[in-house]
Amino acid sequence: MTTNIAVLVSGRGSNLQSIIDNIENRYIQDAKISVVISDVGDAYALERARNHGICDVFIDPSDHPGKKEYENEIMKVLEDNDVDLVLLAGYMRLIGKDLIKSYRNRIINIHPALLPSFKGLHAQQQAFDYGVKVSGCTVHFVDEGMDTGPIIIQKCVPVLEDDTVETLANRILEQEHRIFPEAVKLFVEGKLKVEGRIVVHRN
Ligand code: GRF
Repeated sequence: MTTNIAVLVSGRGSNLQSIIDNIENRYIQDAKISVVISDVGDAYALERARNHGICDVFIDPSDHPGKKEYENEIMKVLEDNDVDLVLLAGYMRLIGKDLIKSYRNRIINIHPALLPSFKGLHAQQQAFDYGVKVSGCTVHFVDEGMDTGPIIIQKCVPVLEDDTVETLANRILEQEHRIFPEAVKLFVEGKLKVEGRIVVHRN
């Protein structure tokens, strides 16, 4: 059975592209991106979706009186597209409790730091400024907290002596583009089991 995926985005969409590419090259099988939803009208990610014939939707938060109404609209799009799995790929908003409840352990986020360190915005900058010698990225299920959900995969990236935030962020991004598709593949193949906050990878 095909897993229908929705990808929520706000910006350039390089992680969206890595999922598209890994479905097209059949690393991820039996999955389809049914819709890409953005809260930003001119997000480049929407153009990436269109370039691959994927339905793209802009939902303007300012058209809605509050978060609940805005997310109701998102849920309607998810239901209309029979979505099984929601990916947050550079989506810059916290997910509300109704959406989390409807898609418990079916929303996956990519974060550019080794959680639980450096949650929230500008994680690469936070790690760089803190002076850590190792950072990385994390793919995790989304729960009610900010970047707190059960961890699926993490990848370490060393901080080099001559790194700038940009060079570090670029090397982290390369790893994001590997572990995000890897996590999606595991999900689609039914190999992820969530026990409390531990994610078990089944064979
Ligand atoms: C990535 O660094 C991701 O980890 C974070 O937001 C950034 C999105 O980049 N959540 P892109 O839009 O996927 O290129």
